[in-house]
Amino acid sequence: MRWIDGLEAAAAEKLPEAVHRYFRQGSAGGISVGEATTAWSSYRFRPRVLTDVSTVDLSTTVLGTRVDVPVLVAPTTLQRQADPGGEAAMAAGVAAAGSVLGVSSNAGTTFAEIGAVGAPWWLQIYVVKNRDITLRMLDAAVEAGARAVVLTADTPVVGRKEDDGPTVWDVIPPGHLLANLDADAYSEADLAKADDLTPDVIGWLADRTGLPVVVKGLLRADDARRCSDAGAAGVIVSNHGGRQLDGSIPTAQALSEIADVLAGTSTELYVDGGLRRGEHILAALALGARAVLVGRPALWALTVDSSAGVTRLLTDLGDELEHTMRLVGARTLADLTPDLISR
Ligand code: FNR
Repeated sequence: MRWIDGLEAAAAEKLPEAVHRYFRQGSAGGISVGEATTAWSSYRFRPRVLTDVSTVDLSTTVLGTRVDVPVLVAPTTLQRQADPGGEAAMAAGVAAAGSVLGVSSNAGTTFAEIGAVGAPWWLQIYVVKNRDITLRMLDAAVEAGARAVVLTADTPVVGRKEDDGPTVWDVIPPGHLLANLDADAYSEADLAKADDLTPDVIGWLADRTGLPVVVKGLLRADDARRCSDAGAAGVIVSNHGGRQLDGSIPTAQALSEIADVLAGTSTELYVDGGLRRGEHILAALALGARAVLVGRPALWALTVDSSAGVTRLLTDLGDELEHTMRLVGARTLADLTPDLISR
């Protein structure tokens, strides 16, 4: 068995039951979370033979930052439940693998502590009803060296989770959530997600921060075009790991049409959701993604072996990608083109 395949079970032994359930669950009936990986596994390849694959290069740039492996860590919450070092430990693991970290705006570690680790990181932002809260958070992230703002666009309301028994919110200690704002100073209404966003928010975020803005949570080509036209530096095809609209299509299915509309634009294309193997990553890159992000596997790896676990996860996935690239006859990520995929 691959080390990666045993990670969730090993993490489950260390995590409180409610936290394990929170990490793994999807919203509502769990249809989208259940389909994500199967959808990547359904692609079939048309390998090239008689190409020189004696050297294979996995490096690329993401929004101008060089990465050694095109596998980034998606923003997720409650990392201090996985490891006492939380996001700082995640950042150290990411730095050692030569990748980039997404940091949730709900993070339980201050941006200053995360920035001090030295890994390149992108702030994920939920714009909330009281825009002052969002502005303060953006300023703190810029101050701490965030290299991009990732606007999560699929969460006008938080997807309903169906829990039996105590939820994670009943068991986590104070300070494990929202370490980057004085949550007690605001009402629940202030902190509720904004449900009136339009593409204009992209320019607002860019103007405030001077950073590239990436829109996360797209599943449609027309939305990708609207974001690109509004100045998005990137988009992440995502259904939030199946945690928002249940029954939303798998990202494996959405990616191609979005790649088609972004071709020829400067908007970079990323994808997440259910990617667990080198073959899945190869399919995503061949269909047009510049890099992929992983969410839950990074939480399991952080739980099991702290920073070293995160580094191993990213390098193992990179090794699998490299192996698969040799088998399809690709030497660089630029050689990964849609004709490698059978439709
Ligand atoms: C998430 N995700 C997420 N996304 C986001 O934009 N802000 C957030 O705070 C969170 N929090 C979060 C917590 C947990 C426990 C999970 C599992 C996920 C979604 C995440 O960024 C990403 O889209 C998915 O996790 C990708 O799918 P996989 O790799 O987990 O299948």
